[in-house]
Amino acid sequence: MTAPPEIQKASILSRMFKRKNMDDIIATSENAEHKLKRTLGAFDLVIFGVGAMIGAGIFVLTGSAAAGSAGHLAAGPALTLSFVLTGLVCAFCALAYAEFAAMVPVSGSAYTYTFSTLGQMAAWVIGWALVLEYAVGNMAVAVGWTGHVQQFLNQTFGIQMPAALTSNTIDIAFEASKIDHNMLLSATPLNLLGHPFYLLVYSAFNVPAFLITAAVTVLLFIGVQESARTAAVMVFLKTAVVLLFIGVGGYFIFGQFMHMPFHQTALHQNWFAHGWKTFAPNGMKGIITGASTIFFAYIGFDAVSTAAEETKNPQKDIPIGIIGSLAICTLLYIAVSAIITGIVPLAHIDKEAAVAATMSYVGFGWASFLIDIGAIAGLTSVLLVLQMGGVRIFYAISRDNLLPSVLAKVHPKFQTPYVCTVIVGAFVALFAAMLPITLLAEMCNIGTLGAFIVVSLGVVILRYTDPERPRPFKCPGGIFLPLRGVAGCAYIATGLPAVTWALFWGWFALGMVIYFFYGLPNSAKADARLAQRQLEVPTLSTMSSIEQESVTLEPVP
Ligand code: ALA
Repeated sequence: MTAPPEIQKASILSRMFKRKNMDDIIATSENAEHKLKRTLGAFDLVIFGVGAMIGAGIFVLTGSAAAGSAGHLAAGPALTLSFVLTGLVCAFCALAYAEFAAMVPVSGSAYTYTFSTLGQMAAWVIGWALVLEYAVGNMAVAVGWTGHVQQFLNQTFGIQMPAALTSNTIDIAFEASKIDHNMLLSATPLNLLGHPFYLLVYSAFNVPAFLITAAVTVLLFIGVQESARTAAVMVFLKTAVVLLFIGVGGYFIFGQFMHMPFHQTALHQNWFAHGWKTFAPNGMKGIITGASTIFFAYIGFDAVSTAAEETKNPQKDIPIGIIGSLAICTLLYIAVSAIITGIVPLAHIDKEAAVAATMSYVGFGWASFLIDIGAIAGLTSVLLVLQMGGVRIFYAISRDNLLPSVLAKVHPKFQTPYVCTVIVGAFVALFAAMLPITLLAEMCNIGTLGAFIVVSLGVVILRYTDPERPRPFKCPGGIFLPLRGVAGCAYIATGLPAVTWALFWGWFALGMVIYFFYGLPNSAKADARLAQRQLEVPTLSTMSSIEQESVTLEPVP
């Protein structure tokens, strides 16, 4: 017997735009044999979102965004406006995510939403971009983790770790050769050889970043439950230290006004002259460059939607979780950036541990110590959540046969997708030890901005193609806000440097090659195989192979 004609004749084009039926997606998750337990409420989801968000973005990148770095204009105290602008754009996208997640409460997030609206190829592109978001984002967080461990060991025990073991190979090479990332891009090979590019001589390797990623991988290999519990404690710690920073920093700036004679105030001592008085040293250009860097701090609210299958009342709780966590973090970020730039002159802002170093700068060593501990815990929780998200996306893509289905194998004892976990872990650990944090964070940003644009567009498209579908949560104002989200993300992306764009297009091209040479033909073959088997009279051997195929279709553990 042969496969049905529609599968035999399915043209390449129709496969590329083949959409998953939304009712099927929901039914598959509802009827799955190993259905995930629905235990989470709105409050848990807000915690989950905050857990994914507060990390290297606020603890580390605020420093280089405010003060500028090679190839990046300083935003100055106007970084607060970068946070407002980015927070607003993220809010538009968050509403789109909330509408989608309430409509299709399954765990695949943007990848699944896109599969049901724009078809297979667009879903692959988004899945590929999400790998950038989660895996590359995690590399950046791991580098930030090293910075805080270093500062902690140095301040507490006076231990100075050797630069060769705590720096990133390429970063050191850039520094030594005095060329920045953008120059590297524009240099011709000959021209580049003229520069003293010490890549081999300065063979540094960020060992702590490598080790923490390896540890997170082991934890995720053993089980998600344990990881979630560990993350909750860390979320509490990091939120507490951010509040402590705002309290102490706020008192330092404003408290002195209230209790001290004018000649002793921060204003009189010229802190504001250094800080807020030159509010936007590079005008709008600086603000948008800052926004495109600190966008990283907001990444994570979208991860809330991946918990849809574990939520008691996803239609109501997921929108609250997404929007609630975003609102909390936006307020915290604006306050933190205002305090850093209000207290520390731009030239003295620390680029590796901006928040903790601000406290040292004003002589509050104890607060700096506590912030270091909170940041180390906080960054670890982001590592856990992002790594888990990355593995889930990989798992979902391979379950759809767009990547080898061996990646979707579930460990018989630990019930975790262990092949994906190990591969993602090894990839993240290796590159976290080699690439510079700003480059990594910006690569992550560009992938995420792409995903946000497609999700927002998906909401708009569905309003027209499937207007009758029940929408338990609807973006207010029709398609206006999602379209604003699209425009806002595109605008923020214009602030990213040329090298990030070049690497992004390289990543995109690699993704397309894999899709056309592997994903597209392989998913067609898998569909044809399945259809053929369903037509055959089930024998013992075909039954067992159909069962095997369906093993890969279980929900993400
Ligand atoms: N938002 C996360 C962080 O800043 C990714 O670390």
